[in-house]
This record gives sequence, structure tokens and C-alpha cells, in this order.
Amino acid sequence: MSAPAPERTQVAIVGGGPAGLMLAHLLRLRGVDSVVLESRPRERVETRQRAGILEHGTVEALREVGADARMDELGLPHDGFELRFAGRGVRVDMQELTGERVMIWAQTEVTKDLIALRLDHGEPLVFDAEVLAVSDVETDSPSVRYRHGGSDGEVHVLHADVVVGADGSYGPSRRAIPEHLVRRFERVYPYSWLGILADVAPSSHELVYARGRTGFALASMRSPSVTRAYIQVPNGTDPQSWADEAIWDELSARFALDDGSFTLSRGPITDKSVTPMRSMVTEPMRHGRLFLAGDAAHIVPPTGAKGLNLAVADVRVLAEALGEWFATKDETLMDAYSDTALRRVWRASHFSWTMTTMLHVDPDGDPFDEQLALSHLHHIESSESARRALAENYRGLALGAL
Ligand code: PHB
Repeated sequence: MSAPAPERTQVAIVGGGPAGLMLAHLLRLRGVDSVVLESRPRERVETRQRAGILEHGTVEALREVGADARMDELGLPHDGFELRFAGRGVRVDMQELTGERVMIWAQTEVTKDLIALRLDHGEPLVFDAEVLAVSDVETDSPSVRYRHGGSDGEVHVLHADVVVGADGSYGPSRRAIPEHLVRRFERVYPYSWLGILADVAPSSHELVYARGRTGFALASMRSPSVTRAYIQVPNGTDPQSWADEAIWDELSARFALDDGSFTLSRGPITDKSVTPMRSMVTEPMRHGRLFLAGDAAHIVPPTGAKGLNLAVADVRVLAEALGEWFATKDETLMDAYSDTALRRVWRASHFSWTMTTMLHVDPDGDPFDEQLALSHLHHIESSESARRALAENYRGLALGAL
């Protein structure tokens, strides 16, 4: 950004990931000014690999703010997905069961479009802005102190009416809520995901979630010529300890169908990384003039790809509430924000936990756990209502439906 950031704004947004950027756009549409402060350089924000499924509501929000042109051109709408276990597959037809579909469009691409749009509008977005303190959130003039441009950069103070912490699970905003008021819920899973990107066409035209004998595998995609895939690995795995051929062999074994009808296409692997899995919720999501959104308040394991969708749902609710308050000083929606957002957060937390435990092989588990997971999969296979419930959660519930 060339122009210096203002020293005063209506909403100071800490974090320039999808939650913070989407909020800034939604606020602009409601006539509310904001400044977005992002601790990392632009290239780092734009290259971060995360999940790639957008719920219908997330797609709508991207349309509302005008970040839909590349998504419509390059995104891949999907009507359903497959669950695979015990050597066979079950298709969950979301379109037929719920009337809605999802969009495969990577978070990295969403972020790039939201950044470009912000800069096109000439609205303040400061990279390399390390937040040092979020202060006075219990008063009506909170502020954010930040250092711009590295460890010997200049320190600035941004004054605002409201501060929004959209700075991820390790960001500083959450610490502005006094410890004794915070409830924290957490579950760490005894496995991680080894994720790859490969220059090869996807082997299946829809996503396949497999519970293989040796663990979970997911076949996803980034484009008609780029495969994204994951396998369950032990916590602490070094991605470089897996040779490319060993990854393909393991993926093939976990996706195998008894009738031999599935063949995995292999190609050059261009990226390997390991993601730990955890669930975390902190309550409340608001303290005085500080509001938390996205990963700053909650983390879900990636199974089901709810992280970005939850973040966007948070800021849609928050933009409505702040828009109302700046326009009329009516605090009703602002006061309801934390409870409204948390109802969806807990629904997605339960869904992500269910998908995770149903599809992974727990290294510390016993045969009882395994039978429960298989029974759940059999139920989904044999019951249309069970498939509908799964499909509703997967494609996401409408705002206000919770
Ligand atoms: C991905 O493509 O990265 C992806 C897709 C679906 C998931 C998780 C990750 O459930």
C-alpha cells in the first residue's frame, strides 16, 4: 500500500486472511470504514495452502462483495462426494438430497481475490504490520498498537470504535479478553494429514473420503490438471520422510475398491506438507468493543473443510451487526453476535469431529471404536435420512437456520 494508513477508523481489523478481508468488504458495502492490519508480507498470505471447498453461503458472500469472477471461471461446482470403506463406495448426492452444491475453489485463490479487490478500491490494508497490543476494549475508544515494516519499523497507534480480531489461533487479539472470562474447549487428535499437490488430473471427478485399513485418505483437486490428496500419518511426521512413490502406494491401497474398478493416476508431486488436527473453541467471541472471528476463536480439523466457511459465516453475522450499530446505535445484533456465531461453530465442530473420527483409524483406539465407525458408515450407506443429514452439514446450513 502506498498511502499511509489512517490513525483513526471505525473498525480496526487485526488479520488480513479471508475472515478479516471479507469483513472489510462487507463493511464497505454497508458504508463502514475499516483498516486491515496483517502481520505477514503479502506473498506469504497469498501462498498459504488450505482446504478448498466453499459452501453455498460462502459462494454467495463472495458474489456479494464482487470477488466471484475468477471463481466462476475456474472454480469447480460439485454435486456430491463419495465415502469409501471396506472396499466399496457410497455416493452422497448433495444436489438431490439438499438442492444445493458446493464449489471447489482453494482458499489461496479466495485470499488473492479479496486482497486484489481491497487494493483496487484503494482501501487501507497494511502488510508487515505486527500488532503489539489491543487496548481499551472495555471503553468506547479501543486502539491497536502495531509496528510496521519489520523489527526496526515504526510503531503506530490505530484508534477505532470497534476492534475485530481475525488474526488466527495464535494471534494477539484474543489475549485482550481477560483470562477469567474465557472458556476454552479443545481436542487434539492422535494423527495428522500428509497433504500433496501433484501435476496430474484427478483420478475421480468428485472428492473421495476413504477409511482404508491403515487409515484415512482424501482425493481432492485444485483444477482439472492438479490433484490434491491427503493421507493420515502419525503426529510429528516429517513430510520429507515420505518418498513420492510410497505416498502414491499408500493412497492406492487406501482407495482400493474390491471390484478393482479404481485406479489412481500418479504424477509429479510439487508440494508436501503435514497438518496437525485439532478442534478448539473459545467463548465468548466478544468482549466489550472487541469481536473475534474465524480461527482466532475456533479451529476445526480439516475433514469436511469447514474452517474458511465458518470464518466467512462469522463475518457475515458480524458485518450485519456492526452495520446496524453504526447506522442506528441499536446494539441488539451486536449483543447477539457471540451466541449466534457459536451455535454454528459448535454445529461445525460436531460435524468435523464426526467426519474425522468416522474416517480415521485411531492408533490408540480399540476394536470397539472401529466397529462404531463402521456402523456409522453402514448407516449412511443404507439410510437416505442419514445421507441427507450428512449432506446438509457438508453443504452448510443457511444463516439463520441454526
Ligand atoms: C482440500 O481440497 O484441500 C480439501 C477438500 C476437502 C476437505 C479437506 C480439504 O474435506
